[in-house]
Amino acid sequence: MKVPFLSWSARLKEEKPLLLQAFERTLDSGLFVLGPEVEKFENAFAKEHAIDPALVVSCNSGTDALILGLKALGVSLGDEVIVPSHTAVPTISAIEAVGAIPRFADIDDETWVISLPSVKKLLTKKTKCIIAVHLYGNMVDIPALLQLGVPVIEDVAQAQGSRWKGHWAGTLGAVGAFSFYPTKNLGALGDGGLFLSREKFLAEQARMLRFYGQKTRYQAELPQGINSRLDELQAAVLSLRLTRLAEDHKKKKNLVQSYRSGLEGLPVVFQRIPAECDPHWHLFVVATESHERREGLKKFLEESGIGSLIHYQTPNHLQPAFSRYRRENLPVTEDLSKRILSLPLYADLSPDSLDYVVTKVKEFFSIR
Ligand SMILES: Cc1ncc(COP(=O)(O)O)c(C=O)c1O
Repeated sequence: MKVPFLSWSARLKEEKPLLLQAFERTLDSGLFVLGPEVEKFENAFAKEHAIDPALVVSCNSGTDALILGLKALGVSLGDEVIVPSHTAVPTISAIEAVGAIPRFADIDDETWVISLPSVKKLLTKKTKCIIAVHLYGNMVDIPALLQLGVPVIEDVAQAQGSRWKGHWAGTLGAVGAFSFYPTKNLGALGDGGLFLSREKFLAEQARMLRFYGQKTRYQAELPQGINSRLDELQAAVLSLRLTRLAEDHKKKKNLVQSYRSGLEGLPVVFQRIPAECDPHWHLFVVATESHERREGLKKFLEESGIGSLIHYQTPNHLQPAFSRYRRENLPVTEDLSKRILSLPLYADLSPDSLDYVVTKVKEFFSIR
């Protein structure tokens, strides 16, 4: 049996007639960027998140959504932005893109998201913003972070559809930055992203910034504008897929439950999900007892036809590209990155495939 880390062939087959209809509609409209499909998607997204459509600004990627957030908040050259080191590289690239300085925080050893005590240690007069990354589907306690009095950008790339006490991820901080990269909970057939802010002023800034700083065509109001627009085809795909988000959430919740009960008793630990959080799982990650065990398990799964990945092997504060920033001592991040392994998880993962993965993980531990 083979279980790829991710497969969307079943989903694409099912969606194909609807996708073709959406493509045809877009072709016939003759409009390809920021047209009626984008407006329709922004309205549907806003409705789903119980927020005014004027507060939702689609753009070209999750990285751009973070950049728009930082720019709208006025973060610029020399400002400090506190961010977990344990995140995807683009969270840091966005900070660099506005000339700000990333200050790397550690993560909590149970929830694996940014640690509040670590953030507190990094606060200085230059701190302009905190980027909280909702990792693998789990959420950061945003209300607790907001107590520090610094604007918080939520990086929702990995937690679209998660909720904290009923509030959608991305609606609690000053800005929510979403990614529609194909692998995400809500994925396009290419790049896409979205900025959301409950503050009208910030959303207005982001709307101009994504369009070269223009309020209306050929009328530049804001400096430092960029070109970051969602195209009509991707918007049509996203509108279609938005309607399935809740169903996927349920499916993945059941799959994670099966993984957790199937792997119970083995020497692996799972991410702790706070009682306030209802995660829409993006990744299912286990941590082994040691680095050697992780490497052995990965190899054994590969030999058994099972795909796995590591999110992330090299913490950002140790990446060569970021070596010029202050080297923090981040023991939890450094230890966890050596022991984690992401197992296959997607809404259409069959129960047989999941059982096969569980059987093979058990087999690995029984013979070692
Ligand atoms: C946590 C996190 N932030 C930001 C991004 C960037 O999103 P995009 O690839 O859409 O630019 C990603 C995507 O990999 C991510 O996982």
